[in-house]
Amino acid sequence: MYEEEFQAVHFPVMWQDVLRTVQENIPKSKGLRFLDGTGGEAGHVLKFAEAYPDSEILFLDRDPTMIQRAWSRLGDRKNIKSINCNYSELAQSDLEDLGWRDGFDGILLDLGISTYHILESGRGFSFKGTENFDMRLDTNLNTKQVTAAEIVNTYPSKELERIFYEYGEERWTKKIVERLLERRRTNPIESNNDFSKLVESTIPRKFWPPKTHPATRVYQAIRIEVNQEFQHLKKALVELPKFLKPDGIFQIISFHSLEDRIVKHSLRELVMSNKEFSFIYKKPLLPSEEEMKLNPASRSAKLRAIQRSADTRNKRY
Ligand SMILES: C[S@@+](CC[C@H](N)C(=O)[O-])C[C@H]1O[C@@H](n2cnc3c(N)ncnc32)[C@H](O)[C@@H]1O
Repeated sequence: MYEEEFQAVHFPVMWQDVLRTVQENIPKSKGLRFLDGTGGEAGHVLKFAEAYPDSEILFLDRDPTMIQRAWSRLGDRKNIKSINCNYSELAQSDLEDLGWRDGFDGILLDLGISTYHILESGRGFSFKGTENFDMRLDTNLNTKQVTAAEIVNTYPSKELERIFYEYGEERWTKKIVERLLERRRTNPIESNNDFSKLVESTIPRKFWPPKTHPATRVYQAIRIEVNQEFQHLKKALVELPKFLKPDGIFQIISFHSLEDRIVKHSLRELVMSNKEFSFIYKKPLLPSEEEMKLNPASRSAKLRAIQRSADTRNKRY
């Protein structure tokens, strides 16, 4: 299946800003090498490949289905490689295997999940329909991930409260956990629908957010816990800059304030402690009005970027 036949459901967010950041900050335009740590449906990968036809690109995804979807779209391209792995686990030996030991000119993380996960994966990321309440991204990496259903049916109340507060900033946490504990005693949660109905019936309608589903925050919290998203993100923000070539750029697109806070603090720590790195933008870039209109999923996006300085040749920190 090639690009014309493949129906991508995800629009790459802020891709023009991502490309412009590379174009304006990396002096050379030939022979660049990119890493997309969150390949998804290869939206950004294709934009890099079109803008830099002679570049080499490695993309990763922890979800094997996404790797397959990306390749259905990319067709046969010798300059593009992929690995089904967590972006926090990329190792120097992976680069050696590819013969790319000197690293990348550009690294991108476009955080979170893909529109495909919500609309088509059937893994309970959506508020609609009745699907197994699963939410795992690694479906074949042999990680011992618990499912969303296991979390809501077995975690102690204190732990659930911590997750809903910390990862969802949900102010109805206490009530939701109370209801959940009552319910699961006799009737465990099996589907996304079971859980969203429980949240809907717990938060009085007049307190529902105007534009989003009332379970949005707790869904986000559970997804973060299932996939240990913050642990991987924190690790990657330390490890991935090590793979930047001199002049190389690391760009991260986040989608909610908790993610952005982690990105901001980790990058600041790196820039303050290591003179090789500097911020490209003082404040994060936001999507244009036009992009937000065309792709409402981009509304909450923030793009931050750092660059490794040019005089770091032969140095690894
Ligand atoms: C927002 S989507 C990326 C969309 C992509 N930029 C595009 O335009 O098609 C994020 C992707 O990253 C993957 N992902 C999330 N966390 C990951 C991690 N820690 N390691 C590797 N992939 C991850 C998800 O499975 C998802 O496919």
